[in-house]
Amino acid sequence: MIRSVVRGTGAALPRRIMKNADFEGMVETSDEWIAQRTGIRQRHIAGDDETTASLGEAAARAALANAGLTPADIDLVVLATSTPNNTFPATAVDIQNRLGMHHGFAFDLQAVCSGFVYAVATADLYIRGGLAKRVLVIGSETFSRILDWSDRSTCVLFGDGAGAVVVEAGEGTGAIADRGVLAASLRSDGTHKDKLFVDGGPSTTGTVGHLRMEGREVFKHAVGMITDVIEATFAQAGITADDLDWFVPHQANKRIIDASAKKLGIAEQKVVVTVDLHGNTSAASVPLALSVAVADGRIKKGDLVLLEAMGGGFTWGAVLVRW
Ligand SMILES: CC(C)(COP(=O)(O)OP(=O)(O)OC[C@H]1O[C@@H](n2cnc3c(N)ncnc32)[C@H](O)[C@@H]1OP(=O)(O)O)[C@@H](O)C(=O)NCCC(=O)NCCS
Repeated sequence: MIRSVVRGTGAALPRRIMKNADFEGMVETSDEWIAQRTGIRQRHIAGDDETTASLGEAAARAALANAGLTPADIDLVVLATSTPNNTFPATAVDIQNRLGMHHGFAFDLQAVCSGFVYAVATADLYIRGGLAKRVLVIGSETFSRILDWSDRSTCVLFGDGAGAVVVEAGEGTGAIADRGVLAASLRSDGTHKDKLFVDGGPSTTGTVGHLRMEGREVFKHAVGMITDVIEATFAQAGITADDLDWFVPHQANKRIIDASAKKLGIAEQKVVVTVDLHGNTSAASVPLALSVAVADGRIKKGDLVLLEAMGGGFTWGAVLVRW
């Protein structure tokens, strides 16, 4: 059977680093409050010349180099983002063009912080369905552009960045020992749409809008939703938490990550945490964390890796991959 195998990873971060202490003159907050409640110590913020497309392109080029491939080898670009360069065309098409690709196809996928997990599951279906052989799956965001910089309850939480993977068709036997995407579980529930949303858009206000969030409400639902979808993924694959080598969760809040891992019985040393360095980069957070753990040698060929995310909508999901 066809399996969608990860061949390379890459990342790109804006030049400017903003530390927690840099907020102290802007809103009533402190380094201590932010670090204690979220685990975040710093985030990268895009400059005027850095966009979702430029960061996405840089992450894509890094993933291609890591895979030993060129844009000519790719036939589909899927970009997970909620902060596109323009309302349309899709920023994925812009990235396709920046890569010099005039073949294949490209589209954006919008599932907020769950975007990358949805995009990996989507790429897997395109590959297994025979519509693509090699897919660039990118998560790229410039949330700094939709933050209300006077709202201390949200502006300290998010950052900008991009991560990418190259996924290609490979041969498998259908067994859990196969390399590639082994199981996926996706969910959404719009009854929660007012708990985390942007208060503008082309069809309503005609403006871009700002991110609004009931942080406590999001927190309350997060752990239960995350653990449900992961348990569904474990059941699909016939594995338990003990079989995992690495857990790469969405990087929103260290307390949510710790509570989810604890509830699932995933050992602390198997959890990849980068929220301290990047803040919440929405659809970019999982591929950024992945590329850090691949680059530093933690995630190796043959490892069983669980990706998970939860975000606005609400949307949530998990993907199990044998590296
Ligand atoms: C946002 C979050 C860190 C707040 O932490 P919390 O422990 O729930 O804090 P609360 O919301 O209960 O707020 C406690 C107090 O801190 C204040 N506060 C909020 N932001 C603050 C900040 N940056 N600095 C200092 N105080 C702050 C609140 O105003 C509140 O004050 P009050 O009690 O006088 O009203 C937490 O709710 C959270 O992480 N939620 C999930 C958010 C998330 O991950 N979203 C993305 C999902 S993809």
